[in-house]
Amino acid sequence: MKKNGLSLLFTIISTISSSLHAQTWSGDVAQIFYNKCTSCHHNGGIAPFSLTTYAEAAPMAASIYGAISPGALHQMPPWPPDNNYQQYLHDRALTNAEKTTLLNWLNGGALEGDASQTPPPPVYNTGSVLGTGDVTIKMPNYVSNATTLLDDYVCFVVPTNLTQTRTIKAVEVIPGNMEIVHHTLIYIDHNGVETSNTTGFCSSPSSASTKLLTAYVPGSSPLVFPSVSPLKLGVDIGPGSKIYFAMHYPNGSAGMLDSTKVILHFYPPGTTGVRQVSADPVVADYSFNLPPNQLTTLSAQYPQNGGVPVSISALSVAPHMHLLGKNIKSYALSPNNLDTLKHINIPNWDFHWQGFYTFTHLQKIPAGYKVKGEATYDNTAANPNNPNTPPQNVSFGENTTDEMFIVYYHYLLYQPGDENYNLSELVSASLTEYSGMNSLGMRTSPNPFQEGGVSIMFDEPLDKNSKVYIYDAQGRLIQDLSNQIMATPKLLHWNGKSERQNDCSPGLYHISVNQNGKMFSSKLIKQ
Ligand code: HEC
Repeated sequence: MKKNGLSLLFTIISTISSSLHAQTWSGDVAQIFYNKCTSCHHNGGIAPFSLTTYAEAAPMAASIYGAISPGALHQMPPWPPDNNYQQYLHDRALTNAEKTTLLNWLNGGALEGDASQTPPPPVYNTGSVLGTGDVTIKMPNYVSNATTLLDDYVCFVVPTNLTQTRTIKAVEVIPGNMEIVHHTLIYIDHNGVETSNTTGFCSSPSSASTKLLTAYVPGSSPLVFPSVSPLKLGVDIGPGSKIYFAMHYPNGSAGMLDSTKVILHFYPPGTTGVRQVSADPVVADYSFNLPPNQLTTLSAQYPQNGGVPVSISALSVAPHMHLLGKNIKSYALSPNNLDTLKHINIPNWDFHWQGFYTFTHLQKIPAGYKVKGEATYDNTAANPNNPNTPPQNVSFGENTTDEMFIVYYHYLLYQPGDENYNLSELVSASLTEYSGMNSLGMRTSPNPFQEGGVSIMFDEPLDKNSKVYIYDAQGRLIQDLSNQIMATPKLLHWNGKSERQNDCSPGLYHISVNQNGKMFSSKLIKQ
């Protein structure tokens, strides 16, 4: 009793004192960079400079301040949707608390703190997170043709060679060259009618039967449908189908080689209860004109007249425009126009950072409602992305220099209760099915543990390059167990002490294993 009271008092005092002290890199800041910045800002990543160490980040303080302050031109991390309008999985944006910590750190002189306490930076590799999957479809080797002024937009069509219809439960896009693969849109060409185009500004397929499956931007997560009871979702893909890669290589990538691949994961044949996800341009206009030297706002709705005939559950939304896009919004509207169901609002469209945004909960679109989209285009000389100088009349077309107004949805037929599923939890539960994610079979014993320490056992021997760290509840590195792997790759032991062999106080700890870029973790309790 007395001990608990004391430790509570200690927690309160240390919380107060840490909030009085200036934020430091080693204390709070490094972990935020690891979580929100370094997926792009590491050597070999898409961002132009690395921010993985204090030595790299500190000299950039002024620029970082500019990039995370409200109104920044290139807001970092890039996350175009307005989170006040709707929430999505895999949100890249800084939380308000993280932003406050970073701004306090910058205002306080961007101090390092005790360097020995800096948590280890994440390890990035170019391999897959989900494992080998059922089919890998690789585009041919391609050398970027970008110039210093113009990005390179090319399309590749590659047969899947499937002999029977399968149902996709996850898709992972693996860039061949992380430094140059900017956004990539992956479509299924169900009828096998598309052709590769490497000669000019290709960014969208020509046939309406070619459906957008997923999008990759640096730092994005693989598309993983919920695939465990009570919610199994999937997309059918049949014989004769092809994968359509719409690739974007930024300026500066000229002469560099890429060979991006797509890994498909299927449900076992005969799996029951899988609900089909459709991907369609729900809101679209294919016959507009954007006159030069003016802003134009387009709107479109689905269906053209009346409302949707049956109730729909929307899983994700992907607005698509090209370089003149300025903002875009999509929502469902009741027949009497009084009820608006908000889906997405992108106030500052950025062609470079587009993709599917998966809702945290399925969004019911009741029968009778219509889906509406509104988009504004800036075809003036003031738009720095305008491909034409002077501005020209621009209309619908597949080339990047043409325009588009499409809002894709991934959706399914509504069933009662759909809106109550927590997609984040269901996707996490589904992830344990993938090879590698759970195959370590990590177990701890005894846990809670006392003086004798705790054993950490694995079903499969750990890879000798894996990293195994113990962190405390504040995320500070306590001990590195990696050096035990060589001798006993299936059994590690933590003696309950710090790196310098001081006893650790009772409380919550985490063990974190990083094997080939896949992370596994578990809680440990010291009594
Ligand atoms: C998803 C990838 C990604 C993430 C995550 C990301 N950045 Fe960036 N960052 C970039 C790219 C790419 C650029 C180059 C400019 C551009 O394309 O917008 C950039 C540019 C910058 C710049 C230069 C500013 C400018 O105006 O050009 C700063 C500073 C920066 N990032 C800081 C950060 C910080 C701090 C974080 C985390 C809080 C972060 N970035 C997260 C991709 C990313």
